[in-house]
Amino acid sequence: MEHSGLQYLPQNLTSSFSPNQALLPLTACVNGQDHLEIGGCDVPQLAAQFGTPLYILDEETLQTACRQYRNAFQTYYPGESLVLYASKAWSCLAVCAIVAREGLGIDVVSGGELFTALQAGVSPDRLYLHGNNKSKQELQFAIESQCTIVLDNWLELDLLRELIQEGTVRAPVRMMVRFTPGIECHTHEYIRTGHLDSKFGFDPNQLEPLFIAISKQPLIHFVGLHAHIGSQIFELQPHADLPGVMVEALSKAAHHGLPVTELNVGGGLGIRYTEADDPPEIEVWVKTVAQSIIKACEQHQLPLPKLLCEPGRSLIGSACVTAYTVGSRKQIPGTRTYLSVDGGMSDNPRPITYQSLYRVVNANRMSASAGETVTLAGKHCESGDILIKEAQLPDCQPGDILVVMGTGAYNYSMASNYNRLSRPAALLVRGGECSVILERETYQDLIRQDRLPIGLLPAEA
Ligand code: LLP
Repeated sequence: MEHSGLQYLPQNLTSSFSPNQALLPLTACVNGQDHLEIGGCDVPQLAAQFGTPLYILDEETLQTACRQYRNAFQTYYPGESLVLYASKAWSCLAVCAIVAREGLGIDVVSGGELFTALQAGVSPDRLYLHGNNKSKQELQFAIESQCTIVLDNWLELDLLRELIQEGTVRAPVRMMVRFTPGIECHTHEYIRTGHLDSKFGFDPNQLEPLFIAISKQPLIHFVGLHAHIGSQIFELQPHADLPGVMVEALSKAAHHGLPVTELNVGGGLGIRYTEADDPPEIEVWVKTVAQSIIKACEQHQLPLPKLLCEPGRSLIGSACVTAYTVGSRKQIPGTRTYLSVDGGMSDNPRPITYQSLYRVVNANRMSASAGETVTLAGKHCESGDILIKEAQLPDCQPGDILVVMGTGAYNYSMASNYNRLSRPAALLVRGGECSVILERETYQDLIRQDRLPIGLLPAEA
């Protein structure tokens, strides 16, 4: 009989172990009480103190991933480089502040993400605003805060011209251009973006007229090109192919007298959610990208650009787990056993959205054998609210704390209040200390934006 928990523990706690290949955060271990410990904190104890569902973010894992990206660029790329954190993976003040402290910039895709990063104290010269339908207000906000705008379509160029005419723009606006490189990769169709049939970015054959239009705008400082091919990618080939396409576009810009000096190859490196996933190491991914850029620049006889990338999932995905409390059990003889927990699709919408797979352990009894296969169900009024279809767990009792792994990316950031569940709290753990980085929403928070028209106000007693 195999052990339910121990097999998931990191094999190697040194920083040469790539966090995106770990199922649990790098600091995970089992303590003397047979409990799961993360960042030196006993998980069932955290659950008792802060309630569940609870996101538990391990600072060391996040920090290690940031450092591995930066160090790999320093090792393999002789030119200037900047790693941006794609904050859509998890945008909040603490996460932005940690990645900025680690020397990363931040990619934001909305006024809200931009505001969050600015409030966290991130320097605007390290902020890049993306989005396929930025509003005029968002563009104005970006200009006023002096971050770089990644132009996605012609309408945005018109809006920028309008803002220039209206006098909003005093200093030249730093701008990049996103285009679809026509590179296919094997990932879920909802998270594929590099193929030509994509809502994001300019079609490659629009680039020449675009470069001509941009070259006529003195208040636009066109600095570079951007492409992103998709997310949760395990293959290296698409990222080895991308630089060739990008450097070719760069040389076209040079023909139009646009001295483009930055290339952003996007993010996309996958993480291990289950044993079946086999993503490459962060270092190998960076090496592949860097070597391909160097080769493509040699071929086109261009100087090395400043190289940017913008990972989200591979920085933060494996750094966080979600703790739930076991509730009801429904056994349907000969069919299946449903084990329900106190969260579900509102704190982790990925299984219902992308059929994503996850792993779970019983944090109270880490060495107990995984004796049964259950369906781990959420508590939402929706049959599809299943976190894990076939979870191997030891016999679980109501009140046990289950920990779902790899929930750092696109969980909190995609969380909702479906069924008016409060969004969970999030803790940052390190060296046996924990701090709340997101308060649990209260019932009062849930009705904070509600308004009752006068005729509907409850009658006073
Ligand atoms: N840059 C751009 C322009 C992006 O669109 C994305 C992700 C990234 C960077 C970061 O990609 P990453 O390194 O995290 O793979 N909600 C989906 C993922 C959507 C990804 C959207 N774009 C999920 O839960 O799988």
